[in-house]
Amino acid sequence: MQRLAIQGGNRLNGEVRISGAKNAALPILCAGLLTDDALQLGNVPEMNDVATMCKLLQQMGVKIEVNGGQIALSAAHVDKFEAPYDMVKTMRAAILVLGPLVARFGEARVSLPGGCAIGSRPVDLHIKGLQAMGAEIHIEHGYIHAQAKRLKGARIFFDLISVTGTENLMMAATLADGVTVLENAAREPEVVDLAHCLIAMGARIEGAGSDTITITGVGRLHGASHRIMPDRIESGTFLVAAAATGGSITLTDTRADILDNVLEKLQEAGATIQVAGGTISLQMNKRPRAVNVRTAPYPAFPTDMQAQFMAMNTIAEGSAMVVETIFENRFMHVQELRRLGAQIDVEGNTAVIKGCAQLEGAAIMATDLRASACLVIAGLVAQGETIVDRIYHLDRGYEHIEAKLSALGAQIRRIK
Ligand code: EPZ
Repeated sequence: MQRLAIQGGNRLNGEVRISGAKNAALPILCAGLLTDDALQLGNVPEMNDVATMCKLLQQMGVKIEVNGGQIALSAAHVDKFEAPYDMVKTMRAAILVLGPLVARFGEARVSLPGGCAIGSRPVDLHIKGLQAMGAEIHIEHGYIHAQAKRLKGARIFFDLISVTGTENLMMAATLADGVTVLENAAREPEVVDLAHCLIAMGARIEGAGSDTITITGVGRLHGASHRIMPDRIESGTFLVAAAATGGSITLTDTRADILDNVLEKLQEAGATIQVAGGTISLQMNKRPRAVNVRTAPYPAFPTDMQAQFMAMNTIAEGSAMVVETIFENRFMHVQELRRLGAQIDVEGNTAVIKGCAQLEGAAIMATDLRASACLVIAGLVAQGETIVDRIYHLDRGYEHIEAKLSALGAQIRRIK
């Protein structure tokens, strides 16, 4: 098990390049299943979840060439339509092969994801949507068995806003017979990036980014080239780390227009922010002020930034409330932060954080991807050494994070 050793107290200063978005790359890799032509992808982040998805697709027969951040896929010879439990249990996003497999090959056998640290996270909306499009689905021995001669367009209303639910059904609908309307669809920028890639492949999609997406099915999709959008959560994570340490950093190769809510909260905390083209600069020359956050679907405050803001609130001036409305168990980082001396009370989906002058370094443990980023930020501000264990969670969703943090002046090293 690998760990990170962090000496706290350094301000983060300098420039950092933001990688491609994990949550855009994962569905877009699955879009490669929708055509037998080659799909050329650029700016693909090098991180474990991307490697896991590539391995899953290769097991199905997809030819994949990885060359740094460039990935070329060809699904001309797919002969296995299955996502086995051992893959799905480590990465829930594997469910994203379901829609493309049923749409292109008429069959799929995908393991149910099982629970994960941050909540039960069922996939009932994915299944219901495919059934509405005519797929025969039954669940047996923990697997989703789906079959369809040809999917047909349908009007689908999401009871809950689901990012991968929207993405799965949007991909399935591109090859269905007729028009599909997704209502109460997710508006996340990663959904829009997937739509841009599918349109480049010949799909007919309108309304991506709004809560109603209309897809007109076509006979086949062709190859295309697509550059993955920048990762807004990695961007937010570095900005919060800089704000918490009282630093001054510039992010390059990023986008500010998809981070409005996060940037506003950082300004509320006292940061000075400048935006120019693909760069975002942040200066924080005093102790942050505590800020209240309430997570909700895009464009509201992202649940994937909740833990990072909680870390900043632990050493901020004043008290703040953090309300998590998306997942039922996304406060696993609280007890770890308490080990560093943080003062946090939790009541249901609400945490009240009373800022203290400083945290004391200690041995702590990561429990999920964004919680691990939160604990790294806490280690950067804590006095003395903090050891973060189980950082395989971090490696799933951040590209070379300790190299990027070291380049910004953090004292951080990986220990086997
Ligand atoms: C996506 O997960 C992201 N992952 C998550 O990022 C992100 O936290 C989440 O959206 C919310 O923004 C990817 O895009 C790969 P949901 P997803 O379906 O799609 C419930 C990270 O850190 N639900 O939008 O799995 C579900 O239980 C990860 O990068 C159902 O009830 O999330 C949850 O409470 C973590 N039935 C809520 O909806 C369903 O069929 C939102 O889930 C589907 C979802």
